[in-house]
Amino acid sequence: MNSILVTGGAGFIGSHTCLSLLKKGYTVYVLDSYINSSPVPLQRISIILEKENVKIDDKLTILKGDLRKESDIKKIFEIALKKNKPIEAVVHFAGLKAVGESNKKAIKYWDFNVLGTISLLKVMEDYDCWNIVFSSSATIYRPKKNSLMDENHELGPSNPYGVTKFVIEKMLNDAFRSNQKWRIINLRYFNPIGAHPSGLIGEDPLGIPNNLFPLIMQVAIGKINEIKIFGKDWPTKDGTGIRDYIHVMDLAEGHLKALEFLINEKPQICNINLGTGIGTSVLELIKTFEKINNVKIPYVFTGRRKGDNAFVVADNSLAQSNLNWIPKMNIEHMCRDGYLWQINNPNGYLK
Ligand code: NAD
Ligand code: UD1
Repeated sequence: MNSILVTGGAGFIGSHTCLSLLKKGYTVYVLDSYINSSPVPLQRISIILEKENVKIDDKLTILKGDLRKESDIKKIFEIALKKNKPIEAVVHFAGLKAVGESNKKAIKYWDFNVLGTISLLKVMEDYDCWNIVFSSSATIYRPKKNSLMDENHELGPSNPYGVTKFVIEKMLNDAFRSNQKWRIINLRYFNPIGAHPSGLIGEDPLGIPNNLFPLIMQVAIGKINEIKIFGKDWPTKDGTGIRDYIHVMDLAEGHLKALEFLINEKPQICNINLGTGIGTSVLELIKTFEKINNVKIPYVFTGRRKGDNAFVVADNSLAQSNLNWIPKMNIEHMCRDGYLWQINNPNGYLK
């Protein structure tokens, strides 16, 4: 399998994955509407590869298009056919991901995430393409006590965004049950942070971020005054929430391993966690960021956020055994690379 369609390839995780795919020699087709991104990260990918003396020739094809329109998806499949390099697998990132917005605009989330995926699967069937890696999320789990979550952990998303991920997984299960040509991996990401070590591509949230790490980066460069820590009385080692932060480059590598698994194994559908298996508290993340980057991150404690959880950490043994994937980067790398990206690009990809 050499030719891959990456939906949402201009986004945070998509752009890092495109970079890793191109570096590995894959032919990459990107379909993105830029609703939450821009063409710039894809231009930066070419710069990074040039610096690393990796020739991509015509291996990167980009089409601006909306996944909810079957005609746009067909266009990219047709382009690939004309190049004589038909799309053999899809890595499906495109979708909306803001939990807070999904609470207020639930139908918009069903439209982009669920309808977009339905259109994609229909076109894939039409073009005889049966391999897909889907961006799912740990948000579909119902966290319980302070124990690692494996793939059999109880499901129970608590917001419309999470529900869309949950129903897409269900839909993919039905797709496989109805036609066993499908090879499907649902990758359930934990908390992706960090950036490519070049500092050229990274996370560029629109407006004021809601997630902890982008907020820390913006406090570090003085765009935001302080972090509001949501609660200091959680049942954790220091009273602040614990998460499984994973470096975006390790995550990208996980997609390459997932594609390899899809080709080498029999048709199937499986769910695989991508996390490090290591929990880090809010205070630990702030302290590590301060130490590694020699900056001050002021913070204050406030009340708990509605719907929040104490402890969300992956059991990643399935990814290790099935995908032969072991994350290489630790919290220090994540803080170092994220900060480099942010100081080089204080306004994200905007000049
Ligand atoms: P992102 O917003 O940076 O990237 C998503 C990309 O999809 C953007 O470039 C956007 O323009 C594009 N897109 C959205 N709707 C589209 C449509 N209808 N047609 C074409 N393009 C469209 O998000 P990300 O952080 O890179 O996340 C990628 C995927 O991973 C998403 O599906 C997200 O739900 C999932 N995920 C992300 C996280 C996280 O914390 N970042 C965690 C778990 C799962
Ligand atoms: C949140 C979403 C989750 C989504 C994920 C990635 C909620 C309840 N969960 O997860 O569904 O998949 O983002 O988009 O919204 N924190 C602060 N102050 C802040 C922000 C966060 O103290 O200003 C704390 C949180 O309480 C938590 C940790 O930092 O303990 C991480 O928060 P965040 O980055 O929002 O990620 P999740 O809560 O894991």
